[in-house]
Amino acid sequence: MTTPYYEDERATLHNAEALATLRELPTASVDAVITDPPYSSGGAMRGDRQQPAEKKYRGWSQNSDGSSKAPTSTYAGFTGDTRDQRGYLVWSSIWMTECQRILKPGGTFAVFTDWRQLPTTTDAVQAAGLVWRAVAVWDKGIGRPVKGRFRNHVEYVVWATNGPHSSPQDVYPSTVLRHTPPTSSRRVHLTEKPVGVISDLLTLIPAGSVVLDPFAGSATTGVAALEAGHRFIGVEMSEHYAEVSANRLRTVTQGCRDDGGQDAIDFGESA
Ligand SMILES: C[S@@+](CC[C@H](N)C(=O)[O-])C[C@H]1O[C@@H](n2cnc3c(N)ncnc32)[C@H](O)[C@@H]1O
Repeated sequence: MTTPYYEDERATLHNAEALATLRELPTASVDAVITDPPYSSGGAMRGDRQQPAEKKYRGWSQNSDGSSKAPTSTYAGFTGDTRDQRGYLVWSSIWMTECQRILKPGGTFAVFTDWRQLPTTTDAVQAAGLVWRAVAVWDKGIGRPVKGRFRNHVEYVVWATNGPHSSPQDVYPSTVLRHTPPTSSRRVHLTEKPVGVISDLLTLIPAGSVVLDPFAGSATTGVAALEAGHRFIGVEMSEHYAEVSANRLRTVTQGCRDDGGQDAIDFGESA
């Protein structure tokens, strides 16, 4: 195993490729995988999908009157987002199979996706040997209005377990998770999830769990996991986003409030 990019008592972050790192993690060693991989989605044509991530995911934010507006700020892109459909299914099945091995029996698996990749993602989850249990809807509240079409304001979370569900919690969560994405002035990742939507997913797992995110981005899963008292293992391939992640994790570990990372404490040291 390569030296972690960042490590403290409750969090470990690897600046590395996900599959290579997953292959080195011990069998049955984590309680939950909660992750938001590149969707390899976007547009109706093959050429749309192959656009760089920073062009595809411009996002939309909200005016004070509730209407949507295109953001003006830009973020670093990331790679791994241009697989064709068959490639995405095979690749997803491979990394999910590693997650199934690493999960403890009965552990939780939750993966984000969009409407285009939902069928492929549920196929991959099942091909990996996980038990597909539900699809939750993440209602972002905002989304680009398109004349004559359904507004694009939801994404999905495919929820599964590694075999029989070992420790159901005493919670009865809604299938619709309503959380607005961080506004462009607060966001530090191109496709950053709100901490709240991850916190909702974490209600499904036992206290003191080990939570793994192989596509950590800016470590939103890690922030939510640490804030809920869990431990976190993250993997992020981009050095830029690994640095952003490390700063956010350090901020929470030091007992400070995470603000999406934009206002993370400057610790004046490399990660
Ligand atoms: C959709 S983003 C995750 C965003 C994250 N949920 C957040 O809130 O910040 C996916 C991330 O996976 C990373 N990534 C893409 N391919 C990867 C790979 N093969 N191994 C590790 N990380 C990868 C990208 O650099 C990107 O930051």
